[in-house]
Amino acid sequence: MQNKIKIIFLGDIVGSSGRKALKILLPQLLKIYQGDFIIANAENAAGGYGLTESIAEELFSYGLDILTSGNHIWKKEFFPYLQKTERVLRPANYGEGAPGKGWTIYTKNNIKLGVINLEGRIFMKALENPLLIGIKLVEKISKETPFIIVDFHAEATSEKLALGYFLDGLVSAIIGTHTHVQTSDEGILPKGTAYITDVGMCGAVESILGMKIDQVVEMYINMVPRKLEVEKNGKLKIEGVFLEIKEDGKANLIEKFRLIT
Ligand SMILES: [Fe+2]
Ligand SMILES: [Fe+2]
Repeated sequence: MQNKIKIIFLGDIVGSSGRKALKILLPQLLKIYQGDFIIANAENAAGGYGLTESIAEELFSYGLDILTSGNHIWKKEFFPYLQKTERVLRPANYGEGAPGKGWTIYTKNNIKLGVINLEGRIFMKALENPLLIGIKLVEKISKETPFIIVDFHAEATSEKLALGYFLDGLVSAIIGTHTHVQTSDEGILPKGTAYITDVGMCGAVESILGMKIDQVVEMYINMVPRKLEVEKNGKLKIEGVFLEIKEDGKANLIEKFRLIT
């Protein structure tokens, strides 16, 4: 049996503002919370869309252990790195031939941590069923470690809650990502799994999900698809949750946080 562990999970890092926010605010966060593991969703870390090898390495240099992702990870130039790394995940419920891995068991200081990345299907792509793929992976990983964190990258709150209750008691935490708006429903489900519908984001405070406000507003006025740029001005924030997991893999504590420059 392994010891109690502490985990910090950070919401989507949006572009250079998200990376800058981490560089400035992560040292402050680590004075409040000590994490044995730090996980972040990084699907938007490169220019607000996708990830690159050098940006992944930059994020690891700040002390992040595992990067999860979602629907925005599929940049062709990133496929070779996604294929070889164990530390960047893409959602597990894409086709078998999709590059990269949807789950990992990461060992640090003799503690094994299972991380699973799943993507929702409501208002998103018609992927494999995240609940059914999720439970199969949980059965496999739980043979090796009781500590399992799930990043559920999904739009619909009901789908996120459904996965939460479906895997309650079988995993340590289910952390929602993708909407970039932190919800206030963090808590421990009846059978011991920590849960939050959405963990939030890291990036510009005065923005729409990290992007320039006027561009997103214009898009919603005209409904014509357009290029959106990362907001680089103003205050920056990091949002996420701190988790304490007991020896048996059940959650002891989930606390959400938001730090602003
Ligand atoms: Fe995102
Ligand atoms: Fe997303």
